[in-house]
Amino acid sequence: MSKNIAESDKSIITLKINGEDKKVNAAKDTPLLWVLRDHLGLNGTKFGCGMALCGACTVQLNGVPIRSCITPVSAVINQEVLTIEGLAQKGLHPVQQAWQDLDVPQCGYCQSGQIMTAAALLSQKPQPTDADIDAAMSGNICRCGTYQRIRTAIHRASKLTRDK
Ligand code: FES
Ligand code: FES
Repeated sequence: MSKNIAESDKSIITLKINGEDKKVNAAKDTPLLWVLRDHLGLNGTKFGCGMALCGACTVQLNGVPIRSCITPVSAVINQEVLTIEGLAQKGLHPVQQAWQDLDVPQCGYCQSGQIMTAAALLSQKPQPTDADIDAAMSGNICRCGTYQRIRTAIHRASKLTRDK
C-alpha cells in the first residue's frame, strides 16, 4: 500500500503518535493510515475499504475515533494520535481485557478498529446502554458478525473500569 509521490512534494512532518514525537518524510496529503503503516511500521491499524466505510482503519485523534484512511497527515500535526499499539502501554486496556476474556475476534481483521472505537466510547460514556453502543459502533463493520460479542465485551469493559 504505497503511493507514488514526487520527492519534491514531501517534507519532514512531526507527529505525536502514542505520546511520542515521530518525524516522517511524507507529502502533506498522504493518508494518516499510510504513514502509520508504511512509514512507522504500526501495522495494527488495518486497511479495509479506503473510503471511510468500514472502520478497520480507526484510530483516535484527541480521544475521538477517526478514519485514518481518509485523514491527510497534515490534519493531525500537533495533535494526539492514539493507535491500537498505544492503547496497551500501561498493560491491557480494559477493552482489550474484555475482548480477550470473551474471545470476541473471529478472523480479527476489523478488531483493532472496533477496539479503538469502543475505547473512545467508554471514555466519553463510562456506562453506555445497548443503544449507546449500537450508535457508537455502527460504522465499524465486521464481516464475521461478532457484533453481539462486541456489545457484551463493551459492557464488561465498563464494569472492569469501574471495579479497578
Ligand atoms: S479502511 Fe478506512 S474506513 Fe475502511
Ligand atoms: S472478526 Fe473478522 S471481520 Fe471482524
